[in-house]
Amino acid sequence: MDGTLSIRPFDEGDRGLVKALWIGCGLVVPYNDPDADIDLAAGRENSDVLVGCAADGSLVATAMVGHDGHRGWLYYVAVNPAHRDTGFGRIMVRAGEDWLRARGIRKAQLLVRETNTAVRAFYERIGWAESPRTVMERWL
Ligand SMILES: CC(C)(COP(=O)(O)OP(=O)(O)OC[C@H]1O[C@@H](n2cnc3c(N)ncnc32)[C@H](O)[C@@H]1OP(=O)(O)O)[C@@H](O)C(=O)NCCC(=O)NCCS
Repeated sequence: MDGTLSIRPFDEGDRGLVKALWIGCGLVVPYNDPDADIDLAAGRENSDVLVGCAADGSLVATAMVGHDGHRGWLYYVAVNPAHRDTGFGRIMVRAGEDWLRARGIRKAQLLVRETNTAVRAFYERIGWAESPRTVMERWL
């Protein structure tokens, strides 16, 4: 398989494919509405949804990126199962890091669900480390 991946911002025509990818990757849970997440993040000054297209043009990967003026965050890092283990996940994370770096953000963070144990090794492999912090939350 050709290992090239071209990355661009989300376009409205991508919506169905992006949602299908997220569902197929197990990233959509009842308390998150993917349409609302796309609407809030895509094409904003402080956030965007990046999509990765394989050599044949098919949309095979995503990363949602954003910052709050202090820290940067990645969400919905996903690669179509048929295209895994070819470096696309690393490329998407690097694209998110670059997006944040270009906006002056010095630290990127992301949340890994405690059920998603396999993905921790991926992030460690590409240079991320577990953060010794407790995350607090409240639904608004
Ligand atoms: C996690 C995910 C994005 C990785 O995508 P990928 O394209 O397969 O990853 P890459 O090919 O870029 O892998 C980069 C490196 O990490 C390694 N790696 C990838 N997944 C791994 C895993 N589950 N465990 C250990 N190492 C892993 C690769 O072997 C590669 O190592 P190398 O440097 O020796 O070549 C993909 O598995 C996925 O979409 N998972 C489901 C969605 C998900 O859980 N997203 C994260 C939410 S926090």
